[in-house]
Amino acid sequence: MGGPPGPRPDEANGGPGLAKRESDLGDRREISNQREIENGESCRLLLAAYEAKEAGALLQARPGCADELQMRGLSRRLLSVNEGVREALRCLGIVATDGLVLQCRGRSGSTPPPEYSLAGYRAFEHEVVEVNRLLRRGFPEERLLARFRHGLKFFVLRAGEDVAATTWIVTEGERFVDEEGVGLLVPADGLWVRDIFIAPQRRGRGLFAVLLDGVREQFPKVHSIWSDVDRDNHPSLSAHLRYGFEPVARFTTLHLAGQLMIRLRWPVSLPMGSVFKPHRRVLLTGAAYRQFVSERRT
Ligand SMILES: CC(C)(COP(=O)(O)OP(=O)(O)OC[C@H]1O[C@@H](n2cnc3c(N)ncnc32)[C@H](O)[C@@H]1OP(=O)(O)O)[C@@H](O)C(=O)NCCC(=O)NCCS
Repeated sequence: MGGPPGPRPDEANGGPGLAKRESDLGDRREISNQREIENGESCRLLLAAYEAKEAGALLQARPGCADELQMRGLSRRLLSVNEGVREALRCLGIVATDGLVLQCRGRSGSTPPPEYSLAGYRAFEHEVVEVNRLLRRGFPEERLLARFRHGLKFFVLRAGEDVAATTWIVTEGERFVDEEGVGLLVPADGLWVRDIFIAPQRRGRGLFAVLLDGVREQFPKVHSIWSDVDRDNHPSLSAHLRYGFEPVARFTTLHLAGQLMIRLRWPVSLPMGSVFKPHRRVLLTGAAYRQFVSERRT
């Protein structure tokens, strides 16, 4: 009575099993993206409450957050204990990184004080070395060269003859985060700010905003600026939030004895470029990882 039944037409292309698996995967991805968005929202609220130095605002916005708030301990004292814990872990060979990715669509709108002027460098010049030396930034010349080779641009804000502030800008490609082994793609209408630095004697006077407004004027087609900040860097986080940045993703990683990396939180909602073993949450960071990072580090 005929041979064994052939594959059903839908099975020949992977069949309903595959279709279901794909739809499950899609669902899971969606749930995971949703969680990431919720995390981002929760982060934003927590930071706003921290900024306002009171938990009331958060509890009003999200009454269910009381436990979360208590757990995270939103006080400067607790955050500095967190820094202490990280230092203690470091002594044990455990390096914890806890970073936020931030995005800003607007601009501060401040009028730059007339004494400041901005210069941009799109290729290596001796002056770049000189500025970094003046600010004691300690970047070796090869690293500066590598940055320009990867297309990064350097901006210097001067007050008269004095160097007041500097920043690097990534306008295309990716912002490679060494600690994560991850390149976050810079959107076509965006730019990524890196290593913004205000001369120590000029900090706390809003120069962060003056510098960023100046840089944005150089890129009129740019609609959003991106940045990433260590959550323990309070002055930087504070300056970013005041300027109008909002946290959109968070990554937390543990590096153990320089041999193992555990990706505890992972910015799944962001478009990524080069990623070392993207599907692994726990991975070895031996020679192959070091090679991968050294080829992309800027
Ligand atoms: C982080 C940094 C860029 C902020 O720039 P800034 O021009 O000082 O920023 P603002 O003037 O907006 O001040 C930001 C916060 O830092 C405080 N602050 C930072 N340095 C200060 C200083 N030396 N004296 C007084 N306040 C200072 C400000 O009071 C403000 O805190 P608040 O929001 O609680 O009032 C600058 O402090 C800096 O260059 N730090 C070292 C490098 C660094 O961490 N870069 C960030 C990489 S993501």
